[in-house]
Amino acid sequence: MNPVKSTLKFPALIKFPSSDTKNGVLTMFEYGKKIGQVPFPVKRTLVIRGMKASDRRGGHTHHKTSQILVCLSGSCTVRLDDGSRKTSVKLNRPDLGLWLAPYVWHTMSGFSDDCVLLVLADSTYNEKDYIREYGEFKKCLKK
Ligand code: TYD
Repeated sequence: MNPVKSTLKFPALIKFPSSDTKNGVLTMFEYGKKIGQVPFPVKRTLVIRGMKASDRRGGHTHHKTSQILVCLSGSCTVRLDDGSRKTSVKLNRPDLGLWLAPYVWHTMSGFSDDCVLLVLADSTYNEKDYIREYGEFKKCLKK
């Protein structure tokens, strides 16, 4: 059974703290177990940009990797599916993170021209950690 199901809200959103300084806004993504912190030590950071409105990204999930997805600029929609629940989230602010836990199938679409996504991951890149077939994802949930 998916161990994440019982422990995380769906969708699991994290509002990161910001400091509105005189010369700009500073948002903090700090590791820690408190509310508003990155819940895992970050081993990999990705920035995704240049998507067209018709593009789709993701369409997969992971066996072990947890990720936090933040829309630093612009907006997009993320569809989530944990095998029993489906929902979608619009990301359009740089202080809101969406926690993509293992075995949460995720697909990003509806990108604005200026969309820039930040991904914080708890693992280094490993293609073997990906589940790219939806049928395989459903099989894994039954195990
Ligand atoms: P891809 O799996 O299509 O990215 P996404 O997870 O957003 O669907 O990866 C595109 C290419 O980039 C592919 O050749 C693998 C490589 N890649 C890395 O080298 N490191 C990474 O952390 C990621 C996510 C991809």
